[in-house]
Amino acid sequence: MTATSPATPETVLSLEGVSKRFGAVQALSDISFDVRAGEVVALVGDNGAGKSTLVKTIAGVYSPDDGTVTFDGRRVDIGSPAEAQHLGIATVFQDLALCDNLDVVGNLFLGRELHYGRTIDEVEMERRSWELLRQLSAKIPSVRIPVASLSGGQRQTVAIARSLLGEPKVVMLDEPTAALGVAQTAEVLNLVERLRERGLGVILISHNISDVMAVCDRVFVLRLGRNNGTFTISQTSSRELIAAITGATTNAVSQRAARRASQEPPS
Ligand SMILES: Nc1ncnc2c1ncn2[C@@H]1O[C@H](COP(=O)(O)OP(=O)(O)OP(=O)(O)O)[C@@H](O)[C@H]1O
Ligand SMILES: [Mg+2]
Repeated sequence: MTATSPATPETVLSLEGVSKRFGAVQALSDISFDVRAGEVVALVGDNGAGKSTLVKTIAGVYSPDDGTVTFDGRRVDIGSPAEAQHLGIATVFQDLALCDNLDVVGNLFLGRELHYGRTIDEVEMERRSWELLRQLSAKIPSVRIPVASLSGGQRQTVAIARSLLGEPKVVMLDEPTAALGVAQTAEVLNLVERLRERGLGVILISHNISDVMAVCDRVFVLRLGRNNGTFTISQTSSRELIAAITGATTNAVSQRAARRASQEPPS
C-alpha cells in the first residue's frame, strides 16, 4: 500500500481508469467509480456488462490490469479478499454463503466466536446479535433458529448483519433482492437505508430499476465494460437509466420498455 490522497474527504472509495481483461475479453475498460460515506450507489448494467468483475476487483478477488483504487484517502492495492475485509470493504455475494444448519448467532459469529475464558461466550454473542439486528430494524423472530427456516429476506438480513461485524466502511450487496417477493424486498431496501444512516458507503448491484430508484442516491451504468453514464437519482428517470443500460434508443423493444418505465407512477 502506498500513500497519496487524491480523494475528497467524504469519498470513501474511488477507482480511476480501472481495466480488466480475461484473455480475449476486455471485461472492464477505463472505469471510474466512487462512493461516499453515507451514500447508496447502484451499479447497473446488462448481462455481461462487467458488474461482477468490478465488484470482484473491489473485493480483492481480481487485481486490475490498469488503473488506481483509493480507499479512505490512500492509494491501495487490494491483493486478496482478506485484505479487502481488513481495509473495511465488506461484500455480500449473491449466494450469501450462510450455513443452513447453524442458527442466526452461529452464522453471525462463524469464525470469529467470542470467548469467555476458554469457552465460547454464547450469552454475549446472543446479546450482540440482538443488538445488531435491533439497530438494523431487522425482523428476525429468533436468533436461535437455524437460518434454513428463515425467509429469503431474513437470510439476506443475516448475511448483511454478518458483514457489519468487521466494522466496514463500504458494503457491496450483489443483487440482494433478486430472489425476493414484494414484502421481503421492502424489508431489504429498508435495511439498505439503515446502512446509509450508519454512514456506510453502500454499493448495490441490481437489475431492478424500481429498487434502484427507491433507495439509491446515484447510479453508475456499465455497458460492455465501460462507464455509460453516472446519474443522480433525484435528477433522472427510469427511462433515462434504461436507455443508458441498453444503449439502444433505436431498438423498438428497449424504446417500449423505456416508455413503460416513464409511465410508472412516481414512487
Ligand atoms: N473469470 C472469467 N474468465 C473469463 N471471462 C470472464 C470471467 N469473468 C467474467 N468474464 C467475462 O467478462 C464480461 C463481464 O462479465 P461480468 O460477469 O462481470 O458481467 P455482469 O455485468 O456481472 O453480468 P451478469 O448480469 O450476467 O451477472 C463477460 O463477457 C464475461 O463473459
Ligand atoms: Mg454478474
